[in-house]
Amino acid sequence: MSFTELAELILQDAKVLDKYIQENNLPPPALDANGPARTLFTSQESLSARAGLLANTHKLHHLTQGPTAPWLGTVNGAFGDAMTSAAIYHFKIADHVPIGGGAPFEEVASKAGLALRDFKMIVRYAMSNFIFCEPRPGFIAHTASSKLLTENKLIRSLMSMGVDEIFPGIVKEIEALERYSGSEEPTESAWAIANDARSPLFAELAHHHPSRAENMAFAMESLATMFSDVIIVEAYDWASMGAATIVDVGGGKGFVSRQLANHFPQLSFIVQDLQETADAGRGQLPAELQDRITFMTHDFFTEQPVKGADVYFFRAIFHDWPDKYCIQILHNLIPALKNGAKIIIQDPFTSDPLTMQPWQDRECRSSNLRMKLFFNACDRETTEWRELIEKADPRFKLKGIKPRAREPGNEWGPKMALVEIVWDG
Ligand SMILES: C[S@@+](CC[C@H](N)C(=O)[O-])C[C@H]1O[C@@H](n2cnc3c(N)ncnc32)[C@H](O)[C@@H]1O
Repeated sequence: MSFTELAELILQDAKVLDKYIQENNLPPPALDANGPARTLFTSQESLSARAGLLANTHKLHHLTQGPTAPWLGTVNGAFGDAMTSAAIYHFKIADHVPIGGGAPFEEVASKAGLALRDFKMIVRYAMSNFIFCEPRPGFIAHTASSKLLTENKLIRSLMSMGVDEIFPGIVKEIEALERYSGSEEPTESAWAIANDARSPLFAELAHHHPSRAENMAFAMESLATMFSDVIIVEAYDWASMGAATIVDVGGGKGFVSRQLANHFPQLSFIVQDLQETADAGRGQLPAELQDRITFMTHDFFTEQPVKGADVYFFRAIFHDWPDKYCIQILHNLIPALKNGAKIIIQDPFTSDPLTMQPWQDRECRSSNLRMKLFFNACDRETTEWRELIEKADPRFKLKGIKPRAREPGNEWGPKMALVEIVWDG
C-alpha cells in the first residue's frame, strides 16, 4: 500500500470523527490542559473510525521511519517514556505544577526535590509525549495528560502499577526466562524475583506492602473496565437470574459486585477474597448495599465454603494463574456445587492469531506479557479455555465463550471473554 493510499484511509476515518464531533457539539480534539480528559466517542461508527485511525497511523509511522523504527524506538523512545513517566510519578511533579497557570522550572524542581538540570531533562523529554508543555522558555504548564495525573485516582494507580510493579520486573524477565522458562509457578516469575517474593503477587502485596496492594486494586478496576461499567453490566443477562445469590470469588474489594448490585436490585452477593482485601471491602461498603453484599475471607485454594449457590463468579482471576492452579480453583468448587449451578468467568481474552491489526494486538499482547511477568500466567485464547475446562472435570459443561470488546462498541479493540459453565454433577 502506498503512503497516499494509507493516508487516504486515515483521512476517511478522520472525517468520520470530525463529523461526529460537529454533530454532537463536542469540543474539538486538543492536547492542552483545556482539552477533554477522555475520548468522547460513543457511537459504533465513531469508535470504529477511531480504531481505524489508531491502526493506520501506527502503520504509517512505522512505514515512514523504516525498519529501524522498533529498534531505535527501544533506545530512544521506550526507555525514555518509562524513565520519565516513572520520575514524574515518583516525584509527584504534576502535583507541583499549578493548574490553570504553570510555574517557573526552578520553583517546580525545588518542590519536587530535584536538581534543576535533572528536572529539565525529565520534563522536556516528557513534553515530546504531550505530558506538560513549555509555553515560554523555562516555564512549565499542564497539558490534558499531565493534569489527568493530578485529578484521576485510577490513572495514578495505573502509574503505580507500572512504576512499582512492572518496571522492576522487566529487568528480571530475562533472568526469569533463563532460569524458569515454561514455569507454572507464580513464585518463579520476574516480579517474584525482583521482589524476592515467597508468595504470589496479590498475597505478597496484601501481607507486606498494603499501600501497593491498594494501588493495585484500583489499577485492576481501571484496566478491567476501561473506565466504564458497561462491560460488566452488559456482559451477561444478569436480570434473567431472578433473586439469585452470586458468590464473587476473588472479588477484591467488591467493585464488580457493587456495580451489579446497583443495576440489578434482586441480586445478592457474597464477595470472597484474602483477609486484608475482604476486610478493606467490608469497611468501604456503602450503607445502602449492606443488606445485599457481604464479605467473606476465603482462599480459593481451599474448599468453597458457600454450598449450593446459584452462581460462582470469577472475574479477572483465571488469567492470574497458570493452568494447574486454575484446575485446583475449579476442583475446590466441586463439593459446593448443586446440579445446574453456574460458573461464570469474565477474563481478558487473547484474540486468535492474525485476527487483529498490529495496533490492536499491542494491548492484548501486552496484557498477556504482564500476566507472564507478574504470575507466569496468561490471557487465554478460545482453544485454551476449552482445554482447561475439559481437563478440570468432564462434569463442567462449557455453555459458551463470548468475547466482547472492552471499549463498548469497539469490536476491534481488546476483549474480555465471558465463559459460561454449568455443573452437571
Ligand atoms: C485481578 S484481581 C480481580 C479482582 C476482581 N475480581 C475484579 O474483577 O476487579 C484478583 C483478585 O484475586 C484475589 N486473590 C488472589 N489470590 C487469592 C486467593 N488465594 N484466594 C482468594 N482471592 C485471591 C486478589 O486479592 C485480587 O483481589
